[in-house]
Amino acid sequence: MIRALLLLLCSPAVGAGRPPPPATPRLKLAFPELRARHGLRVYELERSCCYDVLLLDEERGRLFVGAKNHLMSLSLNNISQKDRKIYWPAPVEWREECNWAGKDINTECMNFVKILHSYNRTHLYACGTGAFHPTCAFVEVGQHTEDSVFKLDLRRAEDGKGKSPYDPQHAAASVLVGEELYSGVATDLMGRDFTIFRSLGSRPSIRTEQHDSRWLNEPKFVDVFWVPESENPDDDKIYFFFRETAVERQQGLGKTSFARIGQICRNDVGGQRSLVNKWTTFLKARLVCSVPGTDGADTHFDELRDVFLLQTRDKRNPLVYAIFSTSSSVFQGSAVCVYTMADIRRAFLGPFAHKEGPNYQWVSYQARVPYPRPGMCPSKTFGTFSSTKDFPDEVIQFARHHPLMYNPVLPHGQHPIFLQANTPHTFTRIAVDRVTAADGHYDVLFIGTDVGTVLKVVSVPKESWHNMEELLLEELQIFQDSSPITSLQISSKRQQLYAGSATAVAQLPLHRCGIYGKACAECCLARDPYCAWDGNSCTRYMPNTKRRFRRQDVRNGDPNMLCSEDPQLGSVPQKKLYGVEGSSAFLECVPKSLQARVLWTYQRASSAPKREVQLDERVVRTERGILLRSVQHTDAGLYLCHATEHGFTQPLLQLLLEVIGTQQAPGLAPAGDTEPVGPPGRKVWYRDFLQLVDHPPLGAMDKVCERLWSRRSPPARRRPVLPPPLSAKARPPNWRQGEEPRKARSRRTHEAPRAERGPRNASPW
Ligand SMILES: *[C@@H]1O[C@H](CO)[C@@H](O)[C@H](O)[C@H]1NC(C)=O
Ligand SMILES: *[C@@H]1O[C@H](CO)[C@@H](O)[C@H](O)[C@H]1NC(C)=O
Repeated sequence: MIRALLLLLCSPAVGAGRPPPPATPRLKLAFPELRARHGLRVYELERSCCYDVLLLDEERGRLFVGAKNHLMSLSLNNISQKDRKIYWPAPVEWREECNWAGKDINTECMNFVKILHSYNRTHLYACGTGAFHPTCAFVEVGQHTEDSVFKLDLRRAEDGKGKSPYDPQHAAASVLVGEELYSGVATDLMGRDFTIFRSLGSRPSIRTEQHDSRWLNEPKFVDVFWVPESENPDDDKIYFFFRETAVERQQGLGKTSFARIGQICRNDVGGQRSLVNKWTTFLKARLVCSVPGTDGADTHFDELRDVFLLQTRDKRNPLVYAIFSTSSSVFQGSAVCVYTMADIRRAFLGPFAHKEGPNYQWVSYQARVPYPRPGMCPSKTFGTFSSTKDFPDEVIQFARHHPLMYNPVLPHGQHPIFLQANTPHTFTRIAVDRVTAADGHYDVLFIGTDVGTVLKVVSVPKESWHNMEELLLEELQIFQDSSPITSLQISSKRQQLYAGSATAVAQLPLHRCGIYGKACAECCLARDPYCAWDGNSCTRYMPNTKRRFRRQDVRNGDPNMLCSEDPQLGSVPQKKLYGVEGSSAFLECVPKSLQARVLWTYQRASSAPKREVQLDERVVRTERGILLRSVQHTDAGLYLCHATEHGFTQPLLQLLLEVIGTQQAPGLAPAGDTEPVGPPGRKVWYRDFLQLVDHPPLGAMDKVCERLWSRRSPPARRRPVLPPPLSAKARPPNWRQGEEPRKARSRRTHEAPRAERGPRNASPW
């Protein structure tokens, strides 16, 4: 299986002739840059941690946060402003008890808030681990935006068993529907008795069958959603997403984890004679996310990590986005698969999985299924039953023994929409934003990883809507300490992303259009659905602005069609640099997009033909430009750096190289005894410089090599000793008249400060 995937990832065609998604993001932004220039805001509370629960409240403009011993209310506009806090520790007795039971007093015997829901117009409902003593309480938040009330009502604190986990390491999945809480959680101290549980509200609590591995087998709950099935609320269903040890896997193959989707009816009240206060409508199916291998065996991503329900106009048919990783310790990979409600419902209407006895295989159940078909809700829509208590015994018995469906739910398009393998990270969370662009709607995926980064991905149709292309737009380091992202929320209204980790909460705008560049072509090539060229700059695309001014083409990203007004070669920045004959010269040119390919052309004189720069052992391509070793007189001329991306080539930089001879620098030293035109003392500098070339200071060359050959581009700010960076961002200090010539010692080639300070002899330019 592993070999199959490796083969697959190395072969040029994945699946149906699809190229593997590019591993390189178009842009990579580090924490300091995001913080200094792109509105990244961070919130941390002293003596707390583990910001695992984020609850977005658009109406109140608040972000409610559940953490260790604390609840926070932050401003959605700026999480670093006007925070309100509630201190909610576990009582000392519970902490001592917890400690006696062998748990760590500081990392486990605390109150870790795990559940936070909006309860009614004035209150939230919150649950925490309470030092292995789960507890829930109401939190008063006021009715209006201006209300500054944020108060925990501990007089009405309740037992949190079956709602919050005991162990802070465990996750709980829950959803509040009406006044009832549906949760998937371990209900005991040892974390062995897992259940899908309904509590709160006025109806009796109800749960899954206990100690039956066919129902649940060491599950890890991931998420829960409430989805209406028709206009009739009696058909409403609750869907649970989890992963568990697969019962249907043949014994002897070891434990295998499968991703699952489980369903129950909202109006399930249990059976009358059997399955009393147990679900009678519980069914589960395998959720498949896999890629075909070359040898016919599929590679499965079975470790379900997170699910995001993208609401569409039709409330009954949201899109289910799920992220998975592989369970193999050898092979590291993560994937995103999308499921439709139609496919999910089809699996629950398909054959049941059946096992005749301990020594039998799981097969598709072919005999008669009792009526009403297990899994159907008692309602007027599909039958005549008004309560699950009225279901015939035969139905209840069948349901009890057949919770598993035979057919799995396959992803839309039969394959992942985004896949990364052999990357140093695993996906942990996902949030999706549906964005209106000039040529349609796009779902932009924000994927959190276990190293504190967020990937921004958009899926666009290639030729048709069945053949999609994934664009990895950005890789953003939002947590300085690379801690795993444990929660992710989007505010479409405010165009902000919120993320939680063990160490902090972060807030970042969903887009940074200006960063793509100052030309229409750059904006267009980015293919970011949030961004369009407005005639002057790359800015947020607004669907209601006049068509005449905006340029956007997410689907094709073709600047030839859109950017006719772009400046041509005349306005491409031109720089001059000097190379000393026999030494090396570095022509630096780094495109903004990490996905662009750089192309160099060379022209000896303006009248000479342009030709591509030929690479050999003397002319070497590096990550950041080309290195000319042992510069010769014939190397002088104009070097033009182009970026090629998505079939479009644009000039980035013109570098005019002048070569200075070693014997004598005819162009440098003016004839006669007249005052030199260049900086005074230039001759002295030049002599010093040559010495330096002969005896470079210890370590200087190492640094150059490090910079030239390092696979990861170092930040432009860290300036190496040699050679000077030539990009506009990291320009060496300009020389002024009378400046200490010594300053230039460590430079082998350098930019001319200004044209008139260059050598005096006529250049062909
Ligand atoms: C957010 O609030 C902090 C603290 O008041 C302030 O320093 C920062 O400038 C604010 N940022 C924005 C973008 O408003
Ligand atoms: C919301 O629920 C709380 C807790 O049950 C209750 O005290 C409060 O009155 C309710 N508020 C409204 C507006 O119903």
